[in-house]
Amino acid sequence: MTFREDGAAALEWAARYLEQVGGFPVLAQVEPGDIRSRLPAAPPERGEPFADVLHDLDEILLPGTTHWQSPRFFAYFAASAAEPGILAELLAATLNSVGFIWRTSPASTELEAHTLDWTAQLLGLPAGWHGHIEDSASVSTIAALAAAREANGGRVVVCSKEAHSSVERAARLLGLETRKVPLDDEFRLDAGALDLTDAAALVATVGTTSTAAVDPVPVLADACEAAGVWLHVDAAYAGSAWVCPELRWSQAGVERADSLVVNAHKWLFTPMDCSLLWTRRPEALRSAFSLVPEYLRTSDEAESLSDYGPALGRRFRSLKLWAVLRCYGREGLQARIREAIRLAEVFEGLVRCEPGWEVCAPRHFSLVCFRREGPDADNEELLARVNETGELFISHTRLDGRYVLRLAIGNERTTEADVRRAWDVLRRESASRISVI
Ligand SMILES: Cc1ncc(COP(=O)(O)O)c(C=O)c1O
Repeated sequence: MTFREDGAAALEWAARYLEQVGGFPVLAQVEPGDIRSRLPAAPPERGEPFADVLHDLDEILLPGTTHWQSPRFFAYFAASAAEPGILAELLAATLNSVGFIWRTSPASTELEAHTLDWTAQLLGLPAGWHGHIEDSASVSTIAALAAAREANGGRVVVCSKEAHSSVERAARLLGLETRKVPLDDEFRLDAGALDLTDAAALVATVGTTSTAAVDPVPVLADACEAAGVWLHVDAAYAGSAWVCPELRWSQAGVERADSLVVNAHKWLFTPMDCSLLWTRRPEALRSAFSLVPEYLRTSDEAESLSDYGPALGRRFRSLKLWAVLRCYGREGLQARIREAIRLAEVFEGLVRCEPGWEVCAPRHFSLVCFRREGPDADNEELLARVNETGELFISHTRLDGRYVLRLAIGNERTTEADVRRAWDVLRRESASRISVI
């Protein structure tokens, strides 16, 4: 077999997978260790045909896959890898650029800066911010907080109790203390309880992980400005919504941030991994990260994006984002984001109209937090039963001490029929439990 024939078979596999993914159990129906027990203990001595890899992908790995590409993946923050992005990943692997410095990858370096400028325009961000790509919001936040520590010497990272765990993890790695601010009654950071003493940075979240709450960024920006504290905005999920002007109410104050993270791999249809980090203070990131050994010194007068984050060797991640932005355009992105929000509205309406169920947090974007009235244990069991059906996959959180179910819409293949089916399964499983009692 040649590269061309194997490649055609791989592409056929990908096309077939995307056609069939809605028919697979969404949550992998395997036990820990099942997959490894089916793999040979030792690697092959002699090379095998690529077709055998595809065969085992079907036979061994697919049954152990939780299908993030399924239209009924509603857990965490649902995501989808769009077809142009999938193809661009193949091309990026083909080029195999390693972006240490500008001359090792001029195209990758410049396309990255350019796509970040494009995305900033699409999201309505201030002109002139410096943007680059990290693998995850976790690493983007590490980079931002390292710059903050460098910039003002503070020892504390302040965030709300609903900030993502990556904030506390980044602070821990950087030897900083985390101070968590209580919430108001809509699960936002309560600005009245803010204490910025000794703070290096305040992390405000636009679209918290539990409920997609939006912290009061304008007030927090005032406080940071007055105290000389770095303001990092974590809009990993909800930032993509700003492609729609009617959702930019949630961007208020973000123009005053020192840094901002938005994950293109969450709700901008770009395959894992692609986390976008912008800053209006690029010199602080450079001062935290730039370290050029002799063997990488050149006379090139061009910036190296490895000066802005922890990794030296960087993948050509912008290619997939560029492909998605070009093939979908502003209109295509807006249509998909609006549809996800419409579907979340449909689901929220179904829950609200049904006696015995409640919506547990204000819904701003495409995430609905809800529960069956009654004890936590019933809701926990309901979640397990629903996910076991394989028909959909949802996740949970805890709000005001109560166990709450979350249904997040973000996959571009999700239709209203998928959302209605999810609701039917929830009601069916909930009713069958009550009849068992
Ligand atoms: C608000 C928020 N910030 C950060 C993260 C971490 O993202 P990543 O997995 O890219 O590190 C998440 C993940 O869901 C998130 O919801």
